[in-house]
Amino acid sequence: MSSFLWVVTVGLFLVAVWFGWRYYDLKKRLDHYVSQIRNHDKPFPTDIKEIENLSNAIASLKTAFDHQLLTLTSDNARLFTVFEQLTDGVIIVDANGLIQLANPAAKRLFDTSNVLGRSVTEVLRNHQLVDAWRRCQQTAEMQSESVELFARRQFLQIIAIPDSHASGSLLLIQDLTRVHRLETVRRDFVSNISHELRTPLASLKALTETLQNGAIADPDAGPRFLGRINAEVDALTQMAQELLDLSRIESGQVELMLAPLDPKKLLNSAVERMRMQAERAGVNLQVNCADDLRNIRADKSRLEQVLVNIIHNAVKFTKPGGEIILEADIAPSWESVSSGVRFAVRDTGVGIPAESLSRIFERFYRVDRSRTGSGTGLGLSISKHIVEAHGGKIWAESKVGQGSIFIFEIPVF
Ligand SMILES: Nc1ncnc2c1ncn2[C@@H]1O[C@H](COP(=O)(O)OP(=O)(O)OP(=O)(O)O)[C@@H](O)[C@H]1O
Ligand SMILES: [Mg+2]
Repeated sequence: MSSFLWVVTVGLFLVAVWFGWRYYDLKKRLDHYVSQIRNHDKPFPTDIKEIENLSNAIASLKTAFDHQLLTLTSDNARLFTVFEQLTDGVIIVDANGLIQLANPAAKRLFDTSNVLGRSVTEVLRNHQLVDAWRRCQQTAEMQSESVELFARRQFLQIIAIPDSHASGSLLLIQDLTRVHRLETVRRDFVSNISHELRTPLASLKALTETLQNGAIADPDAGPRFLGRINAEVDALTQMAQELLDLSRIESGQVELMLAPLDPKKLLNSAVERMRMQAERAGVNLQVNCADDLRNIRADKSRLEQVLVNIIHNAVKFTKPGGEIILEADIAPSWESVSSGVRFAVRDTGVGIPAESLSRIFERFYRVDRSRTGSGTGLGLSISKHIVEAHGGKIWAESKVGQGSIFIFEIPVF
């Protein structure tokens, strides 16, 4: 009996040792398995017999997870690119009014690079913009506001959208400066054209009435008044022609006769046309141009019209004894090597105030109507369109009292 008990005890002991060893081995493998899972770089072990089903299930779970992560990462990258490239400013503000996120357009609009964590009031720097954000926070409803920032010469529109999850708000800021400017130009155009028409029409009316009232029989006043009527009609006709030219060039209806053109020849022929006028005004007209410039690709008569318009202005706004110099050279700012020619007309005239420099190319814009004398303010506008139709650009630089430079660049042939 006692030997039977002894055998059973030994047997039970051996079974316990076997189970203990199996438990220890399984735990060791599981620990190793868990550490492999934690260590993301290494592949999962799938050779553990005892937990084969579990490890296979975890492996397929990981594959699905990896796939979802990849999709999320690429979606995220795409959204981030859109966010970064948006031309409208986007700012995310938390419930305390601190900026959590801002795209480059927003930083550009508010002229600051470091916005994260700063207060929205400090960055927007305008009480109407801040009010729109505040109203949005208080009412939890979308708010919008258009604001003109005179100091920064900007016209901004802000749309504040409540963010229900984070109790903050999303601010969308659009720069409407260009749209607003075009609207002003259009309004100015309508009022200017009415003004330009009213003056000659009023004098025509006065002249014809005077003739009707008996002046027609006066051998001295009759022909004189008729001569003035003729001059007014000429001015009106010229204005109508210029406006027609302008609208045709603007709408792309004018077909340019592009051909190789020598820059120096172009300057000389424009100067020949204007020499008499310059001499009469007592202004010295000179050409300063290299002989070996490459030909440009241009419509000769149209480009000559640009030069004549600019020289005509230079003569008009330069006092006797002054100087006008015409130059042509390789355009330095052109992107590809020597692909443009830069023309410049310098004068020593009255100059143009800085605030008017960007506006003189608008239709009917004149710096100082009282000093301009004759002229409708269309010359530079026509010139700008002709230059742009050639794929070029035109601008002016000036210092009041010292003179102006009108510069335009045209691609070479
Ligand atoms: N060289 C210059 N010096 C000073 N002011 C200038 C010069 N060129 C142009 N301006 C200013 O720009 C305005 C616009 O010029 P633009 O040639 O378009 O019109 P305009 O000469 O007044 O009329 P138009 O050319 O239609 O006869 C002028 O009225 C003048 O105020
Ligand atoms: Mg002019």
